[in-house]
Amino acid sequence: MPIRPNMARRAAIILAAGAGTRMKSDLPKVLHAVGGRALLDWAAATASALGCERRVAVIGAGAPALREAAEKALGPEGVAVQDPPRGTADAVKSAAAVLAGFEGDVAILYGDAPLVRPETLEALFARRAPKGISLLGFRPKNPAGYGRLILADDGSVARIVEERDATDQERKVGLCNAGPLVADAKTLFQLISMVGNTNKKGEFYLTDVIGLGRSAGFLTHVVEADETEVLGVNSRAELAEAEAAFQTRARQAAMEAGVTLIDPATVYFSHDTLIEPDVIVEPNVFFGLGVTVRRGARIHAFCHFERTEIGERCEIGPFARFRPGAKLAKKVKVGNFVEVKNSVFAEGAKASHLSYIGDADVGARANIGAGTITCNYDGFFKDRTVIGEDAFIGSDTALVAPVKVGARANTAAGSVIVEDVPDGALGIARGRQAVIDGWADRYRARRAAEKAAKVPRKDNAKESE
Ligand code: UD1
Ligand code: CA
Repeated sequence: MPIRPNMARRAAIILAAGAGTRMKSDLPKVLHAVGGRALLDWAAATASALGCERRVAVIGAGAPALREAAEKALGPEGVAVQDPPRGTADAVKSAAAVLAGFEGDVAILYGDAPLVRPETLEALFARRAPKGISLLGFRPKNPAGYGRLILADDGSVARIVEERDATDQERKVGLCNAGPLVADAKTLFQLISMVGNTNKKGEFYLTDVIGLGRSAGFLTHVVEADETEVLGVNSRAELAEAEAAFQTRARQAAMEAGVTLIDPATVYFSHDTLIEPDVIVEPNVFFGLGVTVRRGARIHAFCHFERTEIGERCEIGPFARFRPGAKLAKKVKVGNFVEVKNSVFAEGAKASHLSYIGDADVGARANIGAGTITCNYDGFFKDRTVIGEDAFIGSDTALVAPVKVGARANTAAGSVIVEDVPDGALGIARGRQAVIDGWADRYRARRAAEKAAKVPRKDNAKESE
């Protein structure tokens, strides 16, 4: 949490009690993810980034999954229940008990708007008059549905009118309420207690505090934000829009940080993807949660990563898949159609083609031949395979774990290795080859003659010609 000397203490209230019916989902709306992170967790992280020492999510009753997620993100003391939901002012009021005794600034955040930047909200704190209010405005391309900001002559906000309560004249106002708001805690809760519900919806509107505040001598200032930043998620289509906006942001950030994306629009990031400078990423690559790629690595096209660390100057793919627990040291090569799971590769190790490497420790410079499979699972337990430094695993080796191939050891191609191979030894486990001179020539001649004479096949009469 950032330390801000000589500044008011901060708290955040995250509004998340809405039903989210338009998502048509069994999952509560704020648990849907953007960039691999739940909307609720985005808001919680934003509140942390702002240095809010108290964070409360307001949730609806009867949503056990949401309650569990909110407690996980914010602690049991960070959850307030609004039952029934009677509007945004009523939601804020529901958090009052949890914040009892708190003195300082309160930021109201919306649980369904994941992309509001902490920097933007920081401007709200800066813009706020002492004991007053500041809120985030924006000019949407289509203002339908949003509250309109009615400005006073001095440029402060005189009041907010919700669209359904607005006159035709008021509806023409392009400057709208994005939602987030900052206010002194005492002022806020005092004004909230004055909010009534005589409006078209019969709800208690948080937006009414602006007009009430003005009458009580508290001015409201507005900070304008970009529309993509304040985008709220109410439907699957808006979820996809938020995802797209996040991806655009992540791609730009990666390139600014010194990463080459040959075709940025085809590379997908998660909120926590970490890619160091001078990494080159070819088209069609997906970075799931928990991925780090170190300097100078090259990611060829069509790779998929989850909870993986790729070391410096590794060469990956095309068509490689990394599942949780893959950890590659420097200059490792993992090539096409190789799957790696819960395995550690030491410096310079290679698995260039068509392999499954799971629950394995691969020594430095070891070479894993095409078609190698670690048989790590017997249907009940997972076991590890250990491959020593400079080992050479012949193509099509099945390594039946638990098993160890020593340093500088070889396995013969096509072997099923069930016993440890000592350092410097060869493990060979396959049928011995026999060669029968002239067999193929004799066979071909006989079959050709049979075919010419239309003699029925005697060795397999059922097989059709
Ligand atoms: C609200 C604002 C509107 C603004 C818009 C921006 C009000 C009255 N209006 O309208 O000025 O332009 O957001 O998106 O505030 N919620 C609760 N409890 C409730 C009702 C809502 O927790 O009883 C939560 C919702 O989960 C949501 C947020 O508050 O996260 C906003 O509620 P919503 O009903 O979507 O408000 P809008 O009508 O969109
Ligand atoms: Ca809304």
